[in-house]
Amino acid sequence: MSRVYNFSAGPSCLPEEVLNECAKEMLDYNGTGQSVMEMSHRSKAYEPIIEDAEAMVRKLMKVPDNYKVLFVQGGGSTQFAMVAENLGIKHKKAAYIETGVWAKKAAAEAKKLGIEVDVIASSKDKNYSYIPRVEKISGDYDYAYICFNNTIMGTHYEYIPDTGDIPLVADISSCVLSEPLDVTKFGLLFAGAQKNLAPAGVTLVIIREDLIPEPENCLPGTPTMLAYKTHADNGSMYNTPPCYTIYVLGKVLHWIEANGGAEGMLKRNKEKADYLYNYLDSNEGNFYHATAQTGSRSLMNVPFLTKYSDHAADDEAAAAKEKEINDKFVKAASAAGLVNLKGHRLVGGMRASIYNAMTLDGVKALVDFMKKFAEENK
Ligand SMILES: Cc1ncc(COP(=O)(O)O)c(C=O)c1O
Repeated sequence: MSRVYNFSAGPSCLPEEVLNECAKEMLDYNGTGQSVMEMSHRSKAYEPIIEDAEAMVRKLMKVPDNYKVLFVQGGGSTQFAMVAENLGIKHKKAAYIETGVWAKKAAAEAKKLGIEVDVIASSKDKNYSYIPRVEKISGDYDYAYICFNNTIMGTHYEYIPDTGDIPLVADISSCVLSEPLDVTKFGLLFAGAQKNLAPAGVTLVIIREDLIPEPENCLPGTPTMLAYKTHADNGSMYNTPPCYTIYVLGKVLHWIEANGGAEGMLKRNKEKADYLYNYLDSNEGNFYHATAQTGSRSLMNVPFLTKYSDHAADDEAAAAKEKEINDKFVKAASAAGLVNLKGHRLVGGMRASIYNAMTLDGVKALVDFMKKFAEENK
């Protein structure tokens, strides 16, 4: 068997130890003679699985008792609407910091639901290559919204805006449990699982209890399934949850714990990201450059361009050359067992997503490949 190093932005690589355990238990989970895929979510065998997953989220993220931990479906994208429907109910007004696609999509969804959206800061002026500094947010907002790690742009908040009494909502889809995070600074956190926690199919929501409205107090027309209360009152089992994904999520959380918890992940992730950024920033690596500005750089997603990207926007021949080099890089990397490195079209070039499960060996293999490719194509 030969496994590749998978730099996909999501769904992404999972710890091999977890995959092996899942494989071992595939046909017979814990002497039940069934796979977890086949089990009723209300069975004696399954209940401890979801309970343990919640307990592990609470433990690893130090979630206080006055917060609910929910497992819902519909991905991060459904949260864009759920946040507005459940939280935007008093002033029907919210503050958004615009740091790229995912923050913009969240704001657009709120607007669609009739929320007055104030974009209080934006990094659009520099193609979202940095995180604007907003120390204090005040006003008659129902909530303030940020995307804490911007998967496409490769940027990450190095601070938490002070919102006083305004609940702060953060999309942590691409950085959940990659580092310690003070949950008490937030009213609501959410994360699609398919990057750092599990296969696709479940979304983790952590919400302060007093922010959960009765379903009838949500925005008019909010479907039952989109009221947080529905899930909070039913232990995330109002309907059939994504049972197998939650089972894998639990295993990933135990793997995180065995590897030092959130602090251990930060150390591991810093080591990997430093290795890659140090090369990108060095003279030796000047064939390439990282697109995210220092002070805003993500430890999880590292977009980078080659020197062929330095051309005028209307220089078609140079643009064609750039595309040729990028395509060649992605193809050759893939042939060398380094897959899913194609950059997002909004940034171009390449992107290495180096989530928790990516190893330092994987990043070293990438940098070795980059050196060789630069030498051959300079
Ligand atoms: C930061 C962020 N938020 C939200 C989403 C959307 O997530 P989903 O595909 O689970 O709806 C993504 C997807 O990559 C993302 O990176």
